[in-house]
Amino acid sequence: MTNKTPPSIIALDGPAASGKSTLGRTLADTLGYLFFDTGIMYRAVTWIALQRDLNLKDEAVITELAQKAQIDIRPPSQNDGRSCDVTIDERDVTWEIRDAEVEANVSVVSAYAGVRKALSEQQRRIGMRGRVVMVGRDIGTVVLPDADLKIYLDASAEERAKRRFDELIARGEKASYDEILRKVIERDRIDSTRAVAPLRPADDAVIVDSDKMNAGQVFAHVMELCR
Ligand code: DC
Repeated sequence: MTNKTPPSIIALDGPAASGKSTLGRTLADTLGYLFFDTGIMYRAVTWIALQRDLNLKDEAVITELAQKAQIDIRPPSQNDGRSCDVTIDERDVTWEIRDAEVEANVSVVSAYAGVRKALSEQQRRIGMRGRVVMVGRDIGTVVLPDADLKIYLDASAEERAKRRFDELIARGEKASYDEILRKVIERDRIDSTRAVAPLRPADDAVIVDSDKMNAGQVFAHVMELCR
């Protein structure tokens, strides 16, 4: 029996909370590849803008910030559920970039053409080295259009909101399902209607609908695609 080499550049796109990070991380660990979650970069730029009290509506200012920002992404130094350390000017912001304020503003920041250009170029440089699972919204369409395997992981807004809700409750946090669902739908709307690099599957992407599959089943299915 011959073993086919797995695809070297894997692009994994899909809407918020579709399970991309869990799948991407497991896939990268299994294949011994780099896992690169590009959403971190958009979140980091948003975090810095909020921290410096910059006007988020000023595209030129935010673009300049994206061009200059020193965002460091390194292997995890702590065993607290993180997949990597995210530092900005030596400050560990791994969890802060996930907070509600960043969440509420990141779609605006990531809709700016100049921001996307600056961050996409960095992502492409890293992705082209190969042996990478890159996760985002526009990896298969814009960042790495020649990726060896493109997956678009989809799930209904209701299912994604439910997963987010369960996650928060499991962490002992207060959560409202209706509120989460409203935010998921709003983010989908902004991400998929923006003028530059809107969220959509690449023409040659394999669409995986995870509504009726758990994380293990999605992983097994995608490993089949890798073979
Ligand atoms: O995947 P995430 O939730 O961490 O992404 C945060 C935001 O960044 C989300 O609003 C979509 C945006 N994003 C993007 O526009 N392009 C990417 N390649 C990754 C994320």
